[in-house]
Amino acid sequence: NYYAIIMAGGVGSRFWPVSTPEFPKQFHDMLGTGETLIQKTFSRLSQLIPKENILILTNDKYADIVQEQLPMINNEQIVLEPEMRNTAPCILYASMKIKKRNPNALMIVAPSDHWIEDEVQFVANLQRSFDICDHDNVLMTLGILPTFANTGYGYIEFDKLDSRQVKKVVQFREKPDYATAKKFIQSRNFLWNSGIFIWSVSSILDAFEKFQPVMFNLFNEGFDKLNTEAEADFVAENYGKSENISIDYAVMENAKNVFVLPATFDWNDLGTWGSLYDKLPKDANENAVVNATIVIENASNNIVRTNAGKKVVIDGLNDYIIVDEDDVLLIYPKKKEQDIKQIVAKINAK
Ligand code: GDD
Ligand code: MG
Repeated sequence: NYYAIIMAGGVGSRFWPVSTPEFPKQFHDMLGTGETLIQKTFSRLSQLIPKENILILTNDKYADIVQEQLPMINNEQIVLEPEMRNTAPCILYASMKIKKRNPNALMIVAPSDHWIEDEVQFVANLQRSFDICDHDNVLMTLGILPTFANTGYGYIEFDKLDSRQVKKVVQFREKPDYATAKKFIQSRNFLWNSGIFIWSVSSILDAFEKFQPVMFNLFNEGFDKLNTEAEADFVAENYGKSENISIDYAVMENAKNVFVLPATFDWNDLGTWGSLYDKLPKDANENAVVNATIVIENASNNIVRTNAGKKVVIDGLNDYIIVDEDDVLLIYPKKKEQDIKQIVAKINAK
């Protein structure tokens, strides 16, 4: 009774120009390994979860890409959202579909775009979490030891005196401002939320019913139609009526039965060019190069990527992102990587 949903509807705007709304980062081979991020995620999950129990939740417009990249799954496993409404409605909808197939299901919610290399530890953590959720009505998350005051993550406070491996969560705080994040880091009893959740379908649906009754009722009214021919019409008519909100704000900040297992594997959410740089192999001058050969003079700590195996000549440039993609060439300081999102918005608005 193990199930998974892979969330693959985001646009990954900080990875422009490789990641675009037409072809976002989860469908790219960001690491240059020959596999896209969603393919890696699928194969990691299928170590423990039957392939036919893994659903891909994504936007309508990515249906063909998913089919092409995961040819081993059947059409019913690709669950399409007519509009982007963030992760809460996506998870609620998928959980109800799974409940209809198996009311005793245990499920993992996994982002499609993370870097996790140690599959053995990942599977061990997942198994442990499933075992707990099988007995207790809890919402589990995998926590990551934080290294700096990153404001792009959720923070999980745990009880310092709780020496058990799996700890009760005191509070869950999604994306705090910088001063708060800094305070959290200093107090040493916070973990980052990895965005990977494990629970039973009954626990998560109870939580939705309690904390998001409007959204719960919206989908529950179509429960009879789920997994039947009537589903498509129901979803087309109702999905867009849902509030646009992430699972973190909608449920995790409110629930009292949240537990955290500190992950025993290395994790990176590959959110920015800099985080990708950290995970790539580097040359003697600490340059990371994907799909290019570079000829270098006095250049270090750059990330260089082309889409055609080009030769790139660099002199006197340090700590830069250099990306050559079709009709765009990006040369941008790594330390301003967070601004790429706004730059792209500006360009698209023109
Ligand atoms: N199907 C679907 N539909 N997927 C979506 C949608 C949607 O509308 N919106 C986002 N996703 C997918 C993204 O593709 C990604 O794989 C995952 O859901 C998480 O969404 P993000 O937009 O990347 O969330 P985030 O990075 O801002 O924050 C979350 O992840 C952090 C760790 O990476 C939160 O859970 C944070 O608490 C967490 O720290
Ligand atoms: Mg993310």
